Amino acid sequence: MRRILIAGNWKMNLDPAEGTSLVEDLLDAAGGWPDVDVVVCPPFVTLPAVAEAVAGSPIELGAQNMHHEDAGAYTAEVSAGMLLTVGCKWVILGHSERRQLFGETDTGVNRKVKKALHAGLLPIVCVGETLDEREASRTVEVVKKQLRDGLAGVTVEEMNEVTIAYEPVWAIGTGKVATIEQAGEVHEFIRSWLNETFGHHIAERVRILYGGSVKPDNAAALLAHPDIDGALVGGASLKADLFDGIIRAAE
Ligand code: PGA
Repeated sequence: MRRILIAGNWKMNLDPAEGTSLVEDLLDAAGGWPDVDVVVCPPFVTLPAVAEAVAGSPIELGAQNMHHEDAGAYTAEVSAGMLLTVGCKWVILGHSERRQLFGETDTGVNRKVKKALHAGLLPIVCVGETLDEREASRTVEVVKKQLRDGLAGVTVEEMNEVTIAYEPVWAIGTGKVATIEQAGEVHEFIRSWLNETFGHHIAERVRILYGGSVKPDNAAALLAHPDIDGALVGGASLKADLFDGIIRAAE
């Protein structure tokens, strides 16, 4: 059985004081949480404050990006090792905003995935099609390429540590959530691709999160799908009551 994972991607929101206050509110509510993994991914500068606030709690820490090199002349970048020193266990890689606004490619995502795994971080690798691609019936083709190129050279052993997030770009921050049928279809495809590529054990084990306008009122239905193993939450992860509601929907 795969354990549900609910991850909050704060994007470029919440400074150290605001982030601390949010996780304090979440921890006040955490008493009745179901048995799921909960991760928050603040901006880099907010990581140390949130790390302190969640120490010893059920909330784990992730980053939203990293560089694939260990150190060097890469102005404004942050390494996997640095993320580990501030208490990160997870890192989101290849988010569609990184791809669309900052020119990240599957090859670049692949380098980061390998570095994260090598360094001991758990990567959440994002894939998903744009509206144009969906309307041109290219969803499976696009997601397949992102998986193939983004995970190229990753070993079966390493795949045990990988989480995949399917986030249709047209559903991110738009309030347009994919239907269970639309999400389910792609999740099933991803699982069959994992089976073909890495074998049955990995296909059964790797968690596939859904992301894109997840809210407390649609989370339960999404999470009830047998191939949807959690959620990557943007907007609703910035409000304690909404994120708490999504975590509780995993019951
Ligand atoms: P959203 O963002 O929940 O605000 O749609 C999801 C994401 O980008 O991970």
